Amino acid sequence: MNVVHLLPSPHQYFFLAVSLLQSTIANSRRTDKRRSPVDFDVDVDTGFFPPHPLPHLPPAYAIWETALAEAGNMLSLGEDDSDPAVAKRISGQIWRSQVLSWPVIDTEPLQVNLRLLQRAHLVLSWLVHYYVHSAPPAADGVPFTVPESLAIPLVAVSRCLGMAPVLTFADTVLWNWDLVDGSLPLSIENMRFVNLFSGTEDERNFYATSAKAEFRGIEMLRIIDEYNNIPNLSDFTSISKVARDLGRLSGIINDISDIIQSVRPLVDPHVFYWDLRPWFEGSDAKGPSAPGWLYEGVPDSENLDLSGPSAGQSSVMHALDIFLDVDHKLRQRRYPAPSDGNKRADHGFMERMRRYMPGKHRDYLSSLAATPCSIRELAQQTPALREPYDNAVMALKKLRDLHMRIACRYIVTMSRSTPGAHGGCPVASMMDRLQSSRAAGNGPIRGTGGNELSLLLKAGRDATRRTLLKDN
Ligand code: HEM
Repeated sequence: MNVVHLLPSPHQYFFLAVSLLQSTIANSRRTDKRRSPVDFDVDVDTGFFPPHPLPHLPPAYAIWETALAEAGNMLSLGEDDSDPAVAKRISGQIWRSQVLSWPVIDTEPLQVNLRLLQRAHLVLSWLVHYYVHSAPPAADGVPFTVPESLAIPLVAVSRCLGMAPVLTFADTVLWNWDLVDGSLPLSIENMRFVNLFSGTEDERNFYATSAKAEFRGIEMLRIIDEYNNIPNLSDFTSISKVARDLGRLSGIINDISDIIQSVRPLVDPHVFYWDLRPWFEGSDAKGPSAPGWLYEGVPDSENLDLSGPSAGQSSVMHALDIFLDVDHKLRQRRYPAPSDGNKRADHGFMERMRRYMPGKHRDYLSSLAATPCSIRELAQQTPALREPYDNAVMALKKLRDLHMRIACRYIVTMSRSTPGAHGGCPVASMMDRLQSSRAAGNGPIRGTGGNELSLLLKAGRDATRRTLLKDN
């Protein structure tokens, strides 16, 4: 036999090479060492929550811890003229002058321990918001100076953690709890929120609602992780699993919608808008032209991210957007085409909110975004997956519809509320003042980062809708 006939022809060589390349790519999905969630400080059981309460800071930082523990009793909102608030003016001045007299404490010893860094971020960012918002309102056009005793260490620990030097979702929700029963593991029933600006149950319930959504998201993180680790996405068993998991995902998103809806009886909109939200405001809350905060002793302080906390910083919600491939930045040509309002909205909001997440969680999201095969592309190519995929997207679109109604009830409606609606509450005079100051020249209702709220939320909802395969 002529051995030459046994050798492949040039044509066959070409196909052999292509198929070898394809199988290498497929295998690379199988053998690629994906980093596990634990590498990103994401726990198998508690997700983005640390599995245990954060430890308190060592004695060298006792002045910070003590000031935080005392702040609730000593301080009131600077713009609040009610009798109980005015009664705290003297203690507030003492508290703030103590902060001004503090030395700048070196944070380097904390760098050996991630949990201590997180605790330092929590303590200092709460102190900054207490300091800023308990002070008498600043004169128009003058930036507010945050003293170096807070600003310098907060910026230092934030750089180590890779996150914004301001109060964030992590400081108010992910890290702000203790165990009810220390002998039992963390669960939504076994967690108690510790630091509260207003001291109200409404505030506690507000954090607990976001925490419930985070907890419900843990199963979703497992689904995403399992999807990213399926060795071969072309066989029947894998496709059936993906279809089933998309069904589970729709159920989880519906549950998160129910959780968001559950704030209605638990959080009074007046308490939220007038007693709590003012403490959250960041440097840019009054819009781009208003003077912001100055971090004393920090070079280029005007370039810091200082917008304040938002559930828009919840990594669970970002993971969902990434997994389903929601295009908030309008980079893809998708249908229905963006409305004029969608085009005018702040498309960078969600991406900016990632800078407020702990850096490791942001890296985790980047690792999800770098998945070799997006589930949207897979569903596009696989008829059996189109419907389950679209159902999950539709569930997320409904979540955003419902969330818009909540934001409208708690913010837009409240911004127009009259003091009388608070039911004869003694803070009426302060509300009058607040209401008129907020109505005067502040333009549209603003969310975190001074963005136009309704444009922003509608744009997010519409971007989600454009993710549907059936319209594309
Ligand atoms: C009383 C309850 C709530 C109110 C008043 C509210 C209000 C807002 C507002 C005003 C924004 C715009 C950005 C900002 O200013 O922060 C926002 C964004 C956002 N909120 Fe909420 N929120 C509430 C509860 C929740 C909960 C429980 C979640 C659950 C995860 C959530 C998830 C989000 C997300 C993901 C965004 C980013 C925008 C988007 O994805 O559409 N919110 N929220």
